[in-house]
Amino acid sequence: MTSLWIDTDMGFDDLAAVLAVAGTPGWSVAGLSLVAGNAPLPVVIDNALRSAAYFGWRFPIHSGAAGPLVGELATAQSVLGDDAMCSAGRSLPRERSTLTSEDAVSALADWLRAAAAPATVLALGPLTNIALLLRRYPELAPRIGELMWMGGSAGPGNHTAAAEFNAFVDPESINEVLAAGLPLAMVGLDTCRQVRVDKADADALRAIGTERGLLLGDLLEGYVRIAGADARSSMALYDPTAAAALLAPESVRFTPAHVVAECRGEHTRGMTVVEWRVPRKAAANARVATVADANAVRSAVLGALSVTARS
Ligand code: RIB
Ligand code: CA
Repeated sequence: MTSLWIDTDMGFDDLAAVLAVAGTPGWSVAGLSLVAGNAPLPVVIDNALRSAAYFGWRFPIHSGAAGPLVGELATAQSVLGDDAMCSAGRSLPRERSTLTSEDAVSALADWLRAAAAPATVLALGPLTNIALLLRRYPELAPRIGELMWMGGSAGPGNHTAAAEFNAFVDPESINEVLAAGLPLAMVGLDTCRQVRVDKADADALRAIGTERGLLLGDLLEGYVRIAGADARSSMALYDPTAAAALLAPESVRFTPAHVVAECRGEHTRGMTVVEWRVPRKAAANARVATVADANAVRSAVLGALSVTARS
């Protein structure tokens, strides 16, 4: 059984990624650390605890950073709705599980220390918690065997023309993670955009006919509607594509590159500048996703959601 830690700002695509890990044989979730991003931290906590109660999660959930290392929090609520869980119908029931602690950094540090070998962390939001861990416990950097991150872009942004949302919220944290030498595997927008989901995928979940299938179908359709309300709209699959890179390693290809986050640009703050010409132009400091096998990613993710809907 491979157990991994997930750091998340708990929007729907984060939820789908957590369910994909929890629903894939041979994989388990060791714990969640929550970070502000899609919504302010109280909303992220609410989404996580309502998900935990509804899906019966037994792993610990710890709240972490309420804002970025520098500046004010920018959220995606204007796109995702106040609860960052836009739905075409049903919403998570209000019943909540309980937070294990409000100190995600200490919890992640304890898990890393106890791990038998350098461990894998799946990061699905701004990297604030990870940067704070490295500031507080720099000796633990070698205990992270891989940091798989949905964030950044080797092409256009989504939150701004230049910046992907997770990177935009906290670009300083990206540079601190890179400076610590963490083995970052960056799954950016350009790769995630190769994997699409649409209303037919939501209909397939609802067709399972269970309460969970109906809810997941409505949440997935709410996510698809971000791209447009037209029935033919399709939406890029963000966080679950990063999860699939771990669950089905052949589904996403990576290339070594040099990455740095722009922190000062008036129009480019949060841009992840990817230099592919390594080592000639710069030393590689990350693996950057280049190609996704859309069918393999969709099969891994939607298959796990279907298993969850039937359980
Ligand atoms: O840009 C997409 C990323 O921003 C995803 O992680 C989504 O959940 C939001 O956090
Ligand atoms: Ca996210």
